[in-house]
Amino acid sequence: MARQMQTSSQRYFIKTQGCQMNERDSEMMGNQLQQQHQMQPTTNVSEADLVILNTCSIREKAQEKVFSELGRWKKSLGYKENAVIAVAGCVASQEAEQIFKRAPFVQIVIGPQTIHRLGDLYSACRRTNQKQIDVSFPAIEKFDHLPMNTRSNISAYLTIMEGCNKFCSYCIVPYTRGEEISRNFSDVMHEAKSLVQTGAREIILLGQNVNDYYGKLHDDTEANLALLITAISQLNGIERIRFTTSHPQAFDETLIEAYDPAQTKLCNHLHLPVQSGSNRILKKMKRDYTVEHYISIIERLRDKRPNLRVSTDIIVGFPGETESDFEATMQLVDTIKFDQSFSFIYSPRPGTPASELIDEVPLSTKKERLARLQQRLKYHANQIANEMIGETMPVLVEGISKKRKNEISGRTENNRIVNFPGTAAHIGTMLSVQITEKQENSLRGRIAAFHDNRQPVISASECA
Ligand code: 5AD
Ligand code: SF4
Repeated sequence: MARQMQTSSQRYFIKTQGCQMNERDSEMMGNQLQQQHQMQPTTNVSEADLVILNTCSIREKAQEKVFSELGRWKKSLGYKENAVIAVAGCVASQEAEQIFKRAPFVQIVIGPQTIHRLGDLYSACRRTNQKQIDVSFPAIEKFDHLPMNTRSNISAYLTIMEGCNKFCSYCIVPYTRGEEISRNFSDVMHEAKSLVQTGAREIILLGQNVNDYYGKLHDDTEANLALLITAISQLNGIERIRFTTSHPQAFDETLIEAYDPAQTKLCNHLHLPVQSGSNRILKKMKRDYTVEHYISIIERLRDKRPNLRVSTDIIVGFPGETESDFEATMQLVDTIKFDQSFSFIYSPRPGTPASELIDEVPLSTKKERLARLQQRLKYHANQIANEMIGETMPVLVEGISKKRKNEISGRTENNRIVNFPGTAAHIGTMLSVQITEKQENSLRGRIAAFHDNRQPVISASECA
């Protein structure tokens, strides 16, 4: 019997694994299902007509989680009778038909570049009761086919490019997300304006390699990331801009200049993955820069912004990593004094050049290095939090606090969550907040008064 398509009151459930690109793709899939198929979101997997798992394959563990998650839902919660199960994202791209073999109850497999076809695949699946798959890489057409948001988050993602041409030797992304391709400058600006009009005050520019962005302008010249950031900074209503992820090799002078606080609304924060503090390992990773180059970028940025906080990604236990390579990474951590960062044990990915290397580092050594590294990263992140206590700083209020209903929650420029007494009327505003306390994963604060004892302030731009 064909799976019946009941157009009204159908629900979809989406769970997202992995990076912000996936989070943004999930938002776009949700928008499409709501606007084109009048479906409603649900957070309860067992009442969904369409269950979507948007997946990540960056490490083996993430990839295996896909199958355990699908199985766990099936067993413990149960899917609605006739529900359609879809696997989207990088595991879909990488495993393709294999997914139907490993999880026969999956009906749709859809790659990251074809998410705009999800609605059609879903209709086809309902109509024909046949499995549907589309893991192709059509050149960046998804943005032309997806509806705009009707409401934005206060802090909103904006994808400016897709794919990656860097081919770092350990990384699967160039294979799952395809070739690097930038969206047109005018399309990005159009989306930025629409995000601001529908409530965004902060925009996070997304791409695997945002500093390789080259967006076509009308006269066929190209805009780079710095120009894009400058243009978005001029939009009325924009308070902050962030970007992720960037690459040290492509971090050019124009982007360093864009950190001049008079030029743009860039935050006092940069996430710049370094991966290793050893030049020998960086070379094996095919990262195309040296540790000295990385340090010089940060130094030049800190000339412009002495308080710039920097976070990073680090891989430990890359094949051939010696104790002295690892020590060089620890040394770099102390030199830069990274803020909250991510660190991982190297995971060989099928088809990548690094997976062919002989890996003699025992797992126990890798685990021990990761623990040491994480302890050192935590030390610096805690030091930074301690330095913040007593300081008054701008906080963009994003919503009501998760724990206390009479409190609101926002982020500092260096991405720390701060909870403090306030009301829903503050949501979407930039407040001056004094940090009063450090907690396990967040900070506490209070809305600050001006030094001349005026009432608590809402930023000048909010009053304008
Ligand atoms: N093993 C471990 N970590 C990896 N990353 C990417 N590929 C691998 C891999 N094969 C990490 C990098 C990257 C982050 C998103 O994931 O640090 O910056
Ligand atoms: Fe992967 Fe390197 Fe591309 Fe980042 S730059 S997505 S680590 S290949």
